[in-house]
Amino acid sequence: MIRSVPRSLAPNAALGLFARTRARTDALAAPLRPEDQMLQSMEDASPVKWHLAHTTWFYEEFILKPRMPGYVSPDDRFAFLFNSYYTQAGPRHARDRRGLVSRPDCTEVADYRAHVDDAMDALLSSGRDDADDIAGLVELGCHHEMQHQELLVTDLLHGLSFNPLLPAYRDPEPLPVTTEVPVSFARHEGGTKRIGHDGKGFAYDCEQPRHKVFVAPFEMANRPVTNRDWIAFMEDGGYTGARHWFMEGHAVASRDGWQHPLYWWAQDGEWWTFTLRGAQPVALDAPVVHVSYYEADAYARWAGARLPTEAEHEIAFRDHAIDGNFLDDGKLRPMPGSAVWGDVWEWTSSPFVPYPGFRPPEGPLGEYNGKFMVNQMVLRGGSCATARDQMRPTYRTFFYPHQRWQMMGLRLARDAT
Ligand code: AVJ
Ligand code: FE
Repeated sequence: MIRSVPRSLAPNAALGLFARTRARTDALAAPLRPEDQMLQSMEDASPVKWHLAHTTWFYEEFILKPRMPGYVSPDDRFAFLFNSYYTQAGPRHARDRRGLVSRPDCTEVADYRAHVDDAMDALLSSGRDDADDIAGLVELGCHHEMQHQELLVTDLLHGLSFNPLLPAYRDPEPLPVTTEVPVSFARHEGGTKRIGHDGKGFAYDCEQPRHKVFVAPFEMANRPVTNRDWIAFMEDGGYTGARHWFMEGHAVASRDGWQHPLYWWAQDGEWWTFTLRGAQPVALDAPVVHVSYYEADAYARWAGARLPTEAEHEIAFRDHAIDGNFLDDGKLRPMPGSAVWGDVWEWTSSPFVPYPGFRPPEGPLGEYNGKFMVNQMVLRGGSCATARDQMRPTYRTFFYPHQRWQMMGLRLARDAT
């Protein structure tokens, strides 16, 4: 039996969130052919078909098997194929070979989803003493699936980028003509502040406990760094000299030949980029996307600024309404403007480490975030691939400093004088 996780949803609200989340995943996969759903272009990225099955396995493994008497899986071997990294949930297939699993095929995976959907509907509509516990687990399962919706589209973009035909996932759509938003900085007083989630409503374990931090007075930019800004950095030799770079970052940039963000190329004197809407000219006033922590940090130093800490980001924006360009909007790329939330995840200078007093839950679900708390950096703010249902000011995602394939950008901060 899995120890209950903190919960916030009434049981019937859990059913609504479940239905909405499952439907969004199915809609994301709907335009894809089976061949598209098999691509695995690197170990960090998984095939769409695997995302469809793994998110399904999560409910089966952590809710249906332990809680629903008589639940039978369509195939007991799916646990081996679709367990991602939970050592306490048993052995699993190699992460870098997910793209070699042609069977079960897409139809069988769709049947697996339908089977688990039916069982979940039955479980959630039955009156039970542990209905609140189950609602909490369903909510976690849905937030998990939404994280995989984001991975599904970013992994797909990476996979499609290796096709010389550069296929568009969704129809190209011209970007609105906009004017440059000048960068400005808002001052924030320092002092002893509280950050982290207060436990009301859903949050991951790693957002808790809420705790005190000391921050010095700081300034936060009004908008993310744009492509126009980034091109100025490139034209000033940003990638050439080592001056603004961490030694480790410059070594990676030289080794891999980085001279611009991932997916860019020069064509007829213009920068182009590959997006989920196909090949597009780089939109000068849209936030820059697909830059690593190393590049983001070098840019900030070049600009005479720095990356914000995660505490600064949370303090600056926690009272700002959660509006912006999210996965639900279907744009599938960052849009020009100066939104706080959505568009691009913003690298912070904070390592992904436990908050003081952090204690992961007992059992396999304690592996969800806790075991990744080394060598990764926190990003804040959500992106055009993040479902709006997931977003809250305390949400911290995390990636390794060299990774670029997520919708990753940055916003500048400065010490206040
Ligand atoms: C928080 C986005 C780094 O990609 O492994 C998915 C999300 N956790 N399944 C990841 C996640 C469990 C996680 N990131
Ligand atoms: Fe997962």
